[in-house]
Amino acid sequence: YVGAFINPKSFSKVDFINHGMVSVDDQTGRINSVQQFESAEALQTAITTLSTDHKLVKLSPEQFLTPGFIDMHTHAPQYRNLGLGLDYTLLEWLQKVTFPEERSYARQPHESPSEHNARVAHIYGHMVRHYLRYGTTTCCYFGGLHAEANRVLVQQVVQLGQRALIGKTCMDCNSPSDYVESTADSVQATREFVEYVKKCDASLEIPGRVLPVVTPRFALTCSRDSMEKLAEIAISTDVHIQTHMSENLDEIQFSKELFPECHNYASIYSSVGLLTRKTFLAHCVHLNEAQRALLSNSGTAVSHCPTSNFALNSGVADLRALAAAGIPVGLGSDVSGGYGLSILDAMRQAIIASKTLHFSDQKSKPLTVSEAFFLATRGGAEALSIDVGSFEEGNFFDALLVDMTNCPSIRHQHETLEQSLHRFVFLGDDRWIRTVFVNGTALL
Ligand code: GUN
Ligand code: FE
Repeated sequence: YVGAFINPKSFSKVDFINHGMVSVDDQTGRINSVQQFESAEALQTAITTLSTDHKLVKLSPEQFLTPGFIDMHTHAPQYRNLGLGLDYTLLEWLQKVTFPEERSYARQPHESPSEHNARVAHIYGHMVRHYLRYGTTTCCYFGGLHAEANRVLVQQVVQLGQRALIGKTCMDCNSPSDYVESTADSVQATREFVEYVKKCDASLEIPGRVLPVVTPRFALTCSRDSMEKLAEIAISTDVHIQTHMSENLDEIQFSKELFPECHNYASIYSSVGLLTRKTFLAHCVHLNEAQRALLSNSGTAVSHCPTSNFALNSGVADLRALAAAGIPVGLGSDVSGGYGLSILDAMRQAIIASKTLHFSDQKSKPLTVSEAFFLATRGGAEALSIDVGSFEEGNFFDALLVDMTNCPSIRHQHETLEQSLHRFVFLGDDRWIRTVFVNGTALL
């Protein structure tokens, strides 16, 4: 791939490369080399020395490459609820809107297994395509409680080519009587799901694309016993852990009543062994320094979900404080607490969220566009320890070909690549994304 590309290097640094060449190995899906040149002429000279077995893709002046977006937190069985129920706050929203919707992923009395499978495949296929269309090349999904629907989710991701981390959601207490499982079932079904995902992934042409995640829903709906056993599974099978933490004040109050022996929310998870180098926690809106230290010392990462935090009136997470404490951070759409699945939207809302903090504390510096872009790409990849998120030798080529030909604004004649990134972040949507690559393969 020859042309302009934007390469996140660190939280504070993004490289804007006008004359670049990224070489990708079709067999492995990984990047062979990344080169940058002083001028169009120097790049042209390098092209002429390439051997003829290279398949050359030249970007037009309106096009550039970015790493694909990473959504660190969303819920597959809430997809149909996009935009609904957002006059509620978290706990009421779960009871009135969310649990009933997730429950509908059970096989209904009138359905045959194949009818049920087809119904769920239709929704999840639509959802995965929708995510890909908006540039989400890696997605971390919470499934629901039902094993069959969760397997359909895995099958859709396998077929459609997205990179994903997928969990079977667990809840064994303080839940509706028709949407709850026993502790033993939570644990056994998680074991089986982890095995199932590992088996599906091993049969891929390029394995490592679909990973299982141990997924206790949160401390309010999971007993200490279940969380301890789930943590054991994650350690013994070496897989990721995802859950929610400290999203809303009523939730935090209830967690204190349930676990009076723990000083704070983070110490609940710490005490059951759920905070590991492979753990990522959604929200973390209301944390103090002691809790940030617990996360930082255990290598736990955070998925910042600003769209959802605004929509459910949960609060504003202090992303800079998390990053300054050395906690790896990325972005999540949190559908359907978040009303949109676009990570471009999550970047904008992360920037706006940081500005609201600045209003009440002038010392709190707003997030820059480059920082938001880092979170959406390399930040997420580092938080998940996966080889994507930037154009570096050895990384998988998960990328977006952005084409500003369809950009509704009028471009300056000598617009810089940095300015184009700013426009993409603030104005961009699916129309700007021409091609979506995962493992070097163009999916859309
Ligand atoms: N906390 C527990 N479950 C959920 C959920 O489904 N969405 C959000 N936003 N928070 C939660
Ligand atoms: Fe969530």
